[in-house]
Amino acid sequence: MKVLVTGARGQLGTDLVDVLIRENDVFGFSHQELDITKPHKVLKIVNEIKPDIVIHSAAYTDVDGCELNPEKAYRVNALGTKNVALACQESEIPLVYISTDYVFDGIKSQPYLESDVVNPINVYGKSKLEGEKFVQSLLKKFFIIRTSWLYGKRGRNFVKTILNLAQNQRELKIVNDQVGSPTYTLDLAQKISELIEFPYYGIYHITNQGFCSWFEFAREIIGGLSLKGIRIIPIESRELNRPARRPSYSVLENYSLKLKGLPLLRDWKSALKEFLSVLKSNQ
Ligand SMILES: NC(=O)c1ccc[n+]([C@@H]2O[C@H](COP(=O)([O-])OP(=O)(O)OC[C@H]3O[C@@H](n4cnc5c(N)ncnc54)[C@H](OP(=O)(O)O)[C@@H]3O)[C@@H](O)[C@H]2O)c1
Repeated sequence: MKVLVTGARGQLGTDLVDVLIRENDVFGFSHQELDITKPHKVLKIVNEIKPDIVIHSAAYTDVDGCELNPEKAYRVNALGTKNVALACQESEIPLVYISTDYVFDGIKSQPYLESDVVNPINVYGKSKLEGEKFVQSLLKKFFIIRTSWLYGKRGRNFVKTILNLAQNQRELKIVNDQVGSPTYTLDLAQKISELIEFPYYGIYHITNQGFCSWFEFAREIIGGLSLKGIRIIPIESRELNRPARRPSYSVLENYSLKLKGLPLLRDWKSALKEFLSVLKSNQ
């Protein structure tokens, strides 16, 4: 297949290109090469390449940044997604839109199903949800993939932040009242490459299995690398006083995958173990 990827230099975009290129013709566009807020440019590139499918991974992902700059959040995450969807519309090109667990409010205490009511509590979640709505209203053939707590080799993420902090600090204070599923971008990219082989369009929750708090995630990272003498102290979110609220519980039931009989991603701890060993071997 000819696959066009937006946000190809991001965490997920990088792994998507690496995975997809094994069996497809991949056209990955960085932010610099394709700014999704420019409708004419998006249309021109899609019309020139004529891809069989577009995977739209580009987004403004700084959750606190979105809260402080809502105009940018809506311009990129909502209107940018509308531009990509419109470019796919005319030739009925299927679109994969990467969305987020933050479309939910976190009030539930059981994993969220794809059919659960959305109710984002921050600007990032609201702007990503607007993107979902454009995709659903403009296209017949789409995959909306909600995922959570991504980490991978490229870019900034929680795993790398913890490792950097651990180099300079003996005590790390980490939030213990937000629960979710850490997800390895390489596992997600692999699953997306399998999913797009079939026209099973719809909404999917795709995460590594199991869940934890950020505090438990940090403990697993430090333990996984056998870093000694580091104390991890659990704290509450309000102590950080960050601009954007986060859902306290955003575990996603991967129900659509289950219904289709498709294998789920592995447990988050084994995915993390592999990622840490990749980091170690690259040092
Ligand atoms: N990170 C998470 O924990 C998480 C969780 C759930 C869902 N998601 C979703 O998963 C997708 C991938 O996330 P990620 O972690 O890979 O994010 P990322 O590393 O921040 O990658 C996003 C990419 O989009 C690019 N971008 C930003 N504005 C753009 C624009 N106007 N036009 C074109 N490209 C633009 C960024 O480029 P610059 O850096 O140069 O601006 C970056 O390369 C996103 O849709 C995100 O909303 C992420």
